[in-house]
Amino acid sequence: MPSAISSVHLGKTYPKARPGKFALDDLSLEIPTGRVYGLIGRNGAGKTTFVRIAATQLAATLGTVYVLGHDIRTEERAIRTRIACVPQESRPLYFLNVEEVIYLYLKLRGLDPQDSRRRTNDVLSELSLTSYRRVLVSRLSGGIRRRTMCAMVLASDADVLFLDEPTTGLDPIARREVWQAIRRASRENRTIVLTTHYLDEAEALSSRLALIESGRLKLEGTPEDLRARVRYPYRVTIQGSFPREELDSYGKVSEIEGGMLLFTREQEAHEVARRALERGLRISMGPVSLEDIFLDVVGRSIEEDSESSEKDEATEEASA
Ligand SMILES: Nc1ncnc2c1ncn2[C@@H]1O[C@H](COP(=O)(O)OP(=O)(O)O)[C@@H](O)[C@H]1O
Ligand SMILES: [Mg+2]
Repeated sequence: MPSAISSVHLGKTYPKARPGKFALDDLSLEIPTGRVYGLIGRNGAGKTTFVRIAATQLAATLGTVYVLGHDIRTEERAIRTRIACVPQESRPLYFLNVEEVIYLYLKLRGLDPQDSRRRTNDVLSELSLTSYRRVLVSRLSGGIRRRTMCAMVLASDADVLFLDEPTTGLDPIARREVWQAIRRASRENRTIVLTTHYLDEAEALSSRLALIESGRLKLEGTPEDLRARVRYPYRVTIQGSFPREELDSYGKVSEIEGGMLLFTREQEAHEVARRALERGLRISMGPVSLEDIFLDVVGRSIEEDSESSEKDEATEEASA
């Protein structure tokens, strides 16, 4: 099956940005059809820029994106009818109530009144919004308003859904309801591009992930692929005192409340666990989480950046 979205050497510089600063830098991605694709990265990594370009809201500087086979540069109309978007910052129409805003959105997308009514009712109950159906959007709390935006998009018939931090500001129950609705949409063979800074969310939902840092692709693949690509795929926590010198040779060690945290390889993890148990200490171990991977990859790239900018400064001083 062809990809739902192909990004080809995509580059973006904003007009007022520092010269030579790329919000996206040679970003090539293949996003498969009918799955949830997670885009993760620090604030300012370029996630929203990617989403806005792919959703034809923002022009690319270099390269292009194909959405359902259509080129964003020349076929934006064809793309727009088949996508729906929850933007990072969004305000639904304030003078309508929750039910009206969802219903109107579906009608405007071309669904017939009966279908729009049915989908509205379904999504209201799916996202526990039924008790708010008659409340004006202008009166809603931020979290319920966000949920209403998600409801509009998830109830639509669009083939590709762009969800830019859809669950920011939602309580844990509401987040999980949105997750369920996202899973339901992907079972309907729709493609979902999800950006989030909740890494548990990215891990729970995404079949593949891209980690972006400073507009560049750092890691891409299934969660298992990502795990296989880091230096230390296992984490071991040890409660109690264990000599640090002994741990250092195994991998990356840090001191935590009441013990030690070690990132290491699988075999070493077992060895350390055995030694800790022989000393009567409590341990827990397992594969690294997406958050561990993120901290490792992004942490290293921050170190490299500060090293290279120190070098830049040094050469500038030398040449001055
Ligand atoms: N309208 C804009 N004008 C200039 N720079 C921008 C604009 N929007 C975003 N940027 C810059 O582009 C980079 C990527 O931003 P963004 O795509 O919003 O990242 P993310 O969504 O991952 O937090 C950042 O360095 C940000 O400061
Ligand atoms: Mg963003």
